[in-house]
Amino acid sequence: MNNWISAVFSPTGGCSAIATAIAGARMGKRIDLCAPVEPQEVPTWVPVLAVVPVYGGRVPAVAIQRLRALKGQGGPAIAVVVYGNRAYEDALLELKTTLTESGFAVIAAAAFIAEHSIIRSIAPGRPDADDLAKCVEFGAAVEAKLAQDAPGTVEVPGNAEYRPLPQMPATPLVTDACGGCGMCARKCPVGAIPLSDPRSTDAARCILCMRCVAICPRKARILPPPMEQAFTAKLTAIASEPKQPELFI
Ligand SMILES: Cc1cc2nc3c(=O)[nH]c(=O)nc-3n(C[C@H](O)[C@H](O)[C@H](O)COP(=O)(O)O)c2cc1C
Ligand code: SF4
Ligand code: SF4
Repeated sequence: MNNWISAVFSPTGGCSAIATAIAGARMGKRIDLCAPVEPQEVPTWVPVLAVVPVYGGRVPAVAIQRLRALKGQGGPAIAVVVYGNRAYEDALLELKTTLTESGFAVIAAAAFIAEHSIIRSIAPGRPDADDLAKCVEFGAAVEAKLAQDAPGTVEVPGNAEYRPLPQMPATPLVTDACGGCGMCARKCPVGAIPLSDPRSTDAARCILCMRCVAICPRKARILPPPMEQAFTAKLTAIASEPKQPELFI
């Protein structure tokens, strides 16, 4: 059955890779949470696979806001967070709670690991072959649970009093290599780069998702070097030991 709806927020590709591996041939309609989402009702027989990254132990607020455009009528959802090998803290509970409040029954959940999108030397090459095999295993287990008469909901870790949303200390810098093509402006998930002036960034909107840094064809967008050094030192100290996927089913 290829009727799963996937709703994915993936500025730099880690969540997309995980969603594709979990859904496999079950993947139907894809909803890109990196762009505005039209309000829509999801029939009870259509499973929703929601996959979002972890930012500061939370789900990015814009992903939550766009996910709320999907309204369930008691049908099943699968909640998946992807994190950069540090910790996912309250993010999985926040995602599950959001889906539940929107009328879905969260019958399965998982936390997977991908390269840290701010410092790519943390969890390099993740998701690797073992991670992707675990995604396939999870997808099959979800399919089997969906075939049950009354699949129950799952409990997930997290504190109901969520951590505060992270404050981003800076925006990416734009170097003289910028040719003004505007690709970063068209692809920024929150409209923080004006198309009329792609060398600038609206600090009030930027969520430091790193998409513009990852996609610029001239590598003209970079993290401010002092920030890169500080993040590298901090994450190398606390996030170098490889974590493993966790499945709740
Ligand atoms: C602003 C920001 C905050 C992040 N916070 C965390 C975190 O709290 N814990 C963690 O392990 N990884 C964290 N990460 C890493 C991402 O969760 C991880 O790289 C994820 O795969 C990114 O998804 P994407 O590749 O689909 O964009 C953060 C990344 C960004 C950009
Ligand atoms: S994608 Fe790169 S080159 Fe193109 S406008 Fe943005 S920063 Fe400049
Ligand atoms: S400007 Fe900020 S929010 Fe927009 S793509 Fe770049 S890092 Fe992400």
